[in-house]
Amino acid sequence: MDGNGRWAKQQGLLRVIGHENGTKSVREVVEASAEIGIKHLTLYAFSTENWNRPKIEVQTLMKLLVKSLKKEIKTLQDNDIKLNAIGCLDDLPKKAKEELQEVIEKTKNNNRMILTLALSYGSRDELINMVKKISDKVKNNIISTESIDESIINKHLYTQNLPDVDLLIRTSGEQRISNFLLWQIAYAELYFTHILWPDFKKSDLYTALIDYQNRERRFGKTSEQLS
Ligand code: FPP
Repeated sequence: MDGNGRWAKQQGLLRVIGHENGTKSVREVVEASAEIGIKHLTLYAFSTENWNRPKIEVQTLMKLLVKSLKKEIKTLQDNDIKLNAIGCLDDLPKKAKEELQEVIEKTKNNNRMILTLALSYGSRDELINMVKKISDKVKNNIISTESIDESIINKHLYTQNLPDVDLLIRTSGEQRISNFLLWQIAYAELYFTHILWPDFKKSDLYTALIDYQNRERRFGKTSEQLS
């Protein structure tokens, strides 16, 4: 969800106002995704590297997270959406962690769509964690080195219950991955748009999905094999 800061700057506003307007796009995209039958939506809301931003911006983003969770619980319940979170959640301020756990608990029986928030998330951090957990199990003879395969790796990632990514959308014109789901996007289709996140609305999501529908996902096979 990139471009909140630039959106604000373009209008002579503070960066935090950009983030505030970004939450409106979050709501639109979440509702639109549920409406059209997407089963999983993952939003990169705060990276491990984002902790290095000015203190005031970090504090505002955390406050915005708490405010949005309180406000949007109704949207989640009305749309039968289950909230999930990935990342180093222990890094979050107490209030944010508690609010997050509360909404996760309250929405746990919803099953139209799973909305995953990546918070204090970094893919390298996730991979290091996974290696440590698996190494411990090997050391304690719980699993053997020979048995390590994709499925074992998947089970030790923050995303353990989520499928691989089909489509990755990055807004604001930047064309990089920025430490997001590196393992899980192995065969994802990538979509880059110049639209800044606060301007990204339902119709822009549909445009991205139509583009995705026209891709040929070969997973290493030839076109002929697919047809
Ligand atoms: C990147 O834009 C955006 C973020 C670091 C924060 C994203 C947060 C929200 C959209 C609001 C809160 C989210 C939830 C789920 C309630 P940037 O600040 O890097 O923009 P810039 O590159 O233009 O400076």
